[in-house]
Amino acid sequence: MGEQHYWLQVHEKAKQWIQEAAQLLKESLKEQIDVEFKSSYDDLVTNMDRKIEQYLIERIHEHYPDHRIVSEEGFGDEVSSLDGIIWLLDPIDGTMNFVHQQRHFAISIGVYENGVGRVGLIKDVMADDLYHCIKGEGAYINDKRLPQLENKKLNESIIAINATWVNDNKRIDPEIMRPIARKSRGTRSYGSAAIELAYIAAGTLDAYFTMRLSPWDYGAGLILIEEVGGKATRVDGAPIDLLKQNSLLVANPGIHQEITQHIKAEIAEGKFIEKPVD
Ligand code: IPD
Ligand code: CA
Ligand code: CA
Ligand code: CA
Repeated sequence: MGEQHYWLQVHEKAKQWIQEAAQLLKESLKEQIDVEFKSSYDDLVTNMDRKIEQYLIERIHEHYPDHRIVSEEGFGDEVSSLDGIIWLLDPIDGTMNFVHQQRHFAISIGVYENGVGRVGLIKDVMADDLYHCIKGEGAYINDKRLPQLENKKLNESIIAINATWVNDNKRIDPEIMRPIARKSRGTRSYGSAAIELAYIAAGTLDAYFTMRLSPWDYGAGLILIEEVGGKATRVDGAPIDLLKQNSLLVANPGIHQEITQHIKAEIAEGKFIEKPVD
């Protein structure tokens, strides 16, 4: 089988499974959902996070027994290197939205080969939008091809930013963040990193900024972003380590440069940012 044909087949399968999983999630909203706390009162997990993760993993293992899976709820594999084919999987991104709002949550699937993004899919379940791509073939929202991102400036941009990063916290000096928030045309926070990354790929948002995100949160998003000519690094411009929690700055190249230059200059003047976490 030719290489591109192989990824076409992986994309087709993943597309079928993500649509089926989205249907299960939609139907689950008609019934009682079991909610538990994980690390704290704002870290939620439901029976559906676990069910969808198992549903997808069963199918991936059955069709691709030599592929490995990194996923949030613990049913995946122990993965310590990027060798071979790895699926980065988030069964529900935006669990808090799923529980509280019954909207703005997504399923995120990113497939990497030796650290190179090959297939990315993000399903915004309630909007019924599927953002998807195969490396080198363009990115799509449903059947519509997404154009390449245009360079913009901060003062003509809407940026996705969590209020935490502007208020007092230990991960980044708020003095670094305030001018960025002030200079932008507006800020938003949707509560699903996957949807926010998909929005950047689609041009709905211009930049996404976070101080800590896990591989399953950004796996699919980064592949989509690359496909439309966007840029993704840690917030100081350093490369992202796909197996770790990273800070993340994702944007069109123009704003990406404007923000990283600002952050680097502030760090040189003694302001702090958190180092990557294992
Ligand atoms: C969370 C969401 C949220 C982001 C958090 C993630 P989860 O994922 O993407 O937007 O701010 O850092 O953990 O837990 O709902 O899958
Ligand atoms: Ca979670
Ligand atoms: Ca997530
Ligand atoms: Ca999740």
